Amino acid sequence: MTLDTLIDQAIAVSKNAYAPYSHYHVGAALHTPDGSVICGCNVENASYPVGVCAERGAIAKAISDGHQTFDMIVIATLNGGSPCGMCRQMLYEFAPDLRVVCVTFDKQIIIDAPLRELLPYGFSPQDLPR
Ligand code: THU
Repeated sequence: MTLDTLIDQAIAVSKNAYAPYSHYHVGAALHTPDGSVICGCNVENASYPVGVCAERGAIAKAISDGHQTFDMIVIATLNGGSPCGMCRQMLYEFAPDLRVVCVTFDKQIIIDAPLRELLPYGFSPQDLPR
């Protein structure tokens, strides 16, 4: 699975975004070490806080399908915007060493960085007492 293919998949799923309020379409393609790709888009709601980001949608779908390890996520938006704090935290739970690639719809790479860099000193399951 090449980065190019993942970029295409993230862009493709962004077209399914339900974003009638922000008009900001987001597509996420989550890659597992065994080569699976799970895609998600943002789903907004008339009750604004109920909306879900593309990255968290992809994670929920992946976990539901039995995947729990991830090595890369490609996030496609108009401007290559970076993942929100809530999504960083959700991703960190499963893959603190995740490679995060943010691209524009015309395939420019804006961010290519490890999640640990985007969420320094992140809170993880290891921080909780047993
Ligand atoms: N959004 C995402 O899907 N992922 C992010 O990490 C940032 C924001 C969505 C939420 C909302 O539907 C729209 O982008 C504008 O905030």
